[in-house]
Amino acid sequence: MEQGWRANPDLVRKLSEKQPGVIYDEAKVPPYSLPDPLVSPEGLKIVTPELWMKRRLEILELFRSQVYGRTPIDKPEGILFEVWDLDREAIGGKATRKQVAINLTGSPDGPVMDLLIYLPNGPPRPLPVFLMLNFMGNHTFYDDPAIRLKDRPLQAFNTTEERDFFSSERSRGWGDLPKLVDKTLERGYGFATVCYNDIDPDFHDGFRNGVHGVFDKFFGASRPPDAWGSISAWAWGLSRAMDYLEKDDEVDEKRVVIVGHSRLGKTALWAGAQDERFAIVVSNNSGCGGAALSRRRFGETVRIINTVFPHWFCDNFKQYNDREDELPVDQHMLIALIAPRPVYVASADEDLWADPRGEFLAAKAADPVYRLLGTDGLPAEEMPPLNHPVMGTIGYHVRSGGHALTLYDWERYIDFADKHFRKPK
Ligand code: GCU
Repeated sequence: MEQGWRANPDLVRKLSEKQPGVIYDEAKVPPYSLPDPLVSPEGLKIVTPELWMKRRLEILELFRSQVYGRTPIDKPEGILFEVWDLDREAIGGKATRKQVAINLTGSPDGPVMDLLIYLPNGPPRPLPVFLMLNFMGNHTFYDDPAIRLKDRPLQAFNTTEERDFFSSERSRGWGDLPKLVDKTLERGYGFATVCYNDIDPDFHDGFRNGVHGVFDKFFGASRPPDAWGSISAWAWGLSRAMDYLEKDDEVDEKRVVIVGHSRLGKTALWAGAQDERFAIVVSNNSGCGGAALSRRRFGETVRIINTVFPHWFCDNFKQYNDREDELPVDQHMLIALIAPRPVYVASADEDLWADPRGEFLAAKAADPVYRLLGTDGLPAEEMPPLNHPVMGTIGYHVRSGGHALTLYDWERYIDFADKHFRKPK
């Protein structure tokens, strides 16, 4: 057997020199001990699925109040779903395209989430579907002039050229994204996506724009320290997309996979933890505040993320800057909240900022909960070698290359969905 994954020492050296304040060297990870998901705050051992169900709610509440923030509203009463586009001959006749305007308030001022759906023509309905939030707009997924193109807001780290490019016709069917769609359809799954900007533009404006601007009134006169940040808002948006998918007769709402990359991988995990309608959850390179253990302080830390992205988490989370050991949870408990539903965590070899080992260890530390609930958990004792996916009810891989969602990753997620959805009876 090949050796388990280890970070490339040259890369560790290079990054450590570039960012001397950041831990990239495994030897510098401080000693830590993780809170045990299977022990209650009173010291009671959680030994049955029934006890876990109660414990699960306590943990969920801790993530709400201390990490991502509380959502002020579930499904808004006025929400409207308008299927304004239906083409049964899309992609050269291979697919059915639908576009749905999800008006979150039902008022003409919105905000409106645009859901793009492609369903393969041929396979019998209802179909399993991959649902993901995207960064750059629905139109980047296919060079299909019918996809609604929206202006992109200028957000942190964007140049105006980037903003203009992704607001223009030139960015239709960008990079490898069309290949992801083709592969999904070829393998008999539908593909659905929403741009995260439709829910909450990704920059800090004191929570005035996006869904915060319309729903924060439910908190009363001032925003409490556990009010939702942007990750909670995006996760809430995924649930609203699910509200539509449940209504669509061509979609099997019991077989919806959510996938997210990076900040949207953090979002997918949090959405999957809260909303049990999602059958499978996939986190791609989600790192700090996603699948990686915060207590390791490897790569991006709680302080760094709260400083650079002050709008992502709730205000209470800032108390844990440099005090990770005081967190009542760590990210293995987020993964455990998804149990017994299948969850896949994926890392990339060069993406040390996101702490591949910390992501593996979190998945592994969720394993006892998965096993208590009667599944096979994560069948790996050690980190697997590069490009050797492990697939139990928890899946994991570390692939070669850097921070990205690649076709290799995507095909593994389809394999994982096949394994769980198409089990021989
Ligand atoms: C930054 C951030 C990460 C995040 C990533 C992304 O690198 O520090 O936490 O995951 O952006 O979303 O691409």
